[in-house]
Amino acid sequence: MAETNLILLGPPGAGKGTQAERLQQDFSLAHISTGDMLRAQVANGTELGQAAKRYMDAGELVPDEVILGMISARITEQDAREGFLLDGFPRNSSQADALAATLAESQRRLTGALALEVPDEEIVRRLSGRRVCLKAGHVYHVELDPPKHEGVCDQDGSRLIQRDDDKEDTIRKRLEVYAEQTAPLIDYYEQAGLLRRFDGTRDPNEVHNHIRATVATLRMEDRL
Ligand code: AP5
Repeated sequence: MAETNLILLGPPGAGKGTQAERLQQDFSLAHISTGDMLRAQVANGTELGQAAKRYMDAGELVPDEVILGMISARITEQDAREGFLLDGFPRNSSQADALAATLAESQRRLTGALALEVPDEEIVRRLSGRRVCLKAGHVYHVELDPPKHEGVCDQDGSRLIQRDDDKEDTIRKRLEVYAEQTAPLIDYYEQAGLLRRFDGTRDPNEVHNHIRATVATLRMEDRL
């Protein structure tokens, strides 16, 4: 079967990570989150992590050269050869062009770009209540999606923390950066015939069912 290569687009807090966890299991895709990769570098105290943290804490994009090096290596790893789900990448038009060039070089292509749509005020509410687990980044919300035991991850028992960039000022800055640099990619992928839009304000299970059905159709069309 042809590989399934997807992009999840949407503002910070739209639910990309929440949906990626589920879709990864449905379709056996490698979940590639540039945010998670950068946070792992920060946690390990690497030089790259130290350089990236300044941008992340300020709500700015990390420079393209750092991100492009990470991604081009990651999408050629064995688990991603059979299909990948990009979460948080690309984030501007030069990253989108670089992705297209990298895929074309190895005769690979995108199956679809899945855009989650959520208004700004809902995003601020979601991100200020978000908690993530220390071990694997599993995502919760103190009111909307609480863990069974406060402060503890249901899946691996590790401690839940608040991300450094989930403070209101930084959230607003991230929204500005999204509107200026990332939102134009919606048109970019629409013109390429790859865009599918989803109402990200629905319950996470409803959003998931809708995306799963769309991806199943895209895969079927790809086989015809
Ligand atoms: P990154 O980690 O990619 O953050 P982001 O895009 O801002 O997205 P988030 O992880 O904040 O949100 P999400 O959409 O995954 O939502 P989630 O599912 O967690 O990037 C962080 C930083 O790294 C960037 O600011 C930048 O500095 C740098 N960076 C990363 N990639 C880069 C790149 N390519 N280039 C340059 N720099 C880069 O959900 C949020 C909350 O809402 C949770 O609490 C969840 O439980 C809840 N929730 C989810 N879905 C629903 C729903 N349907 N209804 C109600 N609640 C919901």
